[in-house]
Amino acid sequence: MNTQKIGKLICVGTGMRMAGQMTPIALSHIETADVVIAAVPNPFARKWLQGVAKEYICLLGYYSDCEVEGKNRRDTYRRMADTILEHLRAGKTVCAAFYGHPGIFACISHMAIADARAEGFSAVMEPGISAEDCLVADIGIDPGKFGMQSMETTQYMIYQRKLDPSSLLILWQPGLAGELSLKRFDTNQARLQILVDKLARDYPLEHEVILYEAATHPLEATRIDRLMLKDLPQARLQQITTLVIPPAYTLQIDQEIVDLLKATTIAPLADAA
Ligand SMILES: C[S@@+](CC[C@H](N)C(=O)[O-])C[C@H]1O[C@@H](n2cnc3c(N)ncnc32)[C@H](O)[C@@H]1O
Repeated sequence: MNTQKIGKLICVGTGMRMAGQMTPIALSHIETADVVIAAVPNPFARKWLQGVAKEYICLLGYYSDCEVEGKNRRDTYRRMADTILEHLRAGKTVCAAFYGHPGIFACISHMAIADARAEGFSAVMEPGISAEDCLVADIGIDPGKFGMQSMETTQYMIYQRKLDPSSLLILWQPGLAGELSLKRFDTNQARLQILVDKLARDYPLEHEVILYEAATHPLEATRIDRLMLKDLPQARLQQITTLVIPPAYTLQIDQEIVDLLKATTIAPLADAA
């Protein structure tokens, strides 16, 4: 017996750039869903969504919950996911739209999908074009060349992490570096200095780092600012900034493993005879 409930959830990404970065499948869900519930900060993208959706609910206002005593971003994200679930329980096909990729540094869609499935609803995520995809294209770096580590800045700061400075490092949300209250959306020089001091365990202070901000519409320029690691505390960091740290050292051969691998080489048939 099929016990799946009537409501359906599809989480989609709108891409980073207004026009052109939305996948056809995301567009078709936005157009056909009973309701589009969105947290898309770009005002042009928002206006467009409002025009296309049958019903449109904007979640951005929920961020002001953080100003309430005793509440923080986690409560905001919970309330956003709960709103999605409410409409699902009403039997609607809900399209939840987030900028970039809906599942990359976007916990709301993961929460909503897990809750929806636990309640017996169909819930899926469609991939979108993320900030990381854009930076690979705009800066011209291939994660496959030296490998890539990608993590949230404050998470890197407060946990014991082992970095490999011979690979590329992407730090997300450096504009919120060290913000532990989960109520504010900024950082300051003292916190950035702590970040620099921690990074200096693995990178020279003169190492070149990149502040990246993808253009989100055709009138905006993409920011690719190169600076020395030690100058980061004085730099202008915004909520949309991503910190890119190219490799500082060349890859070193692990000779022991190479020798083991060579020993496993299958001998040609003639030798084996
Ligand atoms: C909550 S995450 C959202 C990521 C988004 N879901 C995606 O797929 O890229 C916010 C972080 O994404 C990155 N980001 C957002 N907008 C960006 C932009 N226009 N350019 C570069 N990075 C951006 C920044 O690191 C920012 O702090």
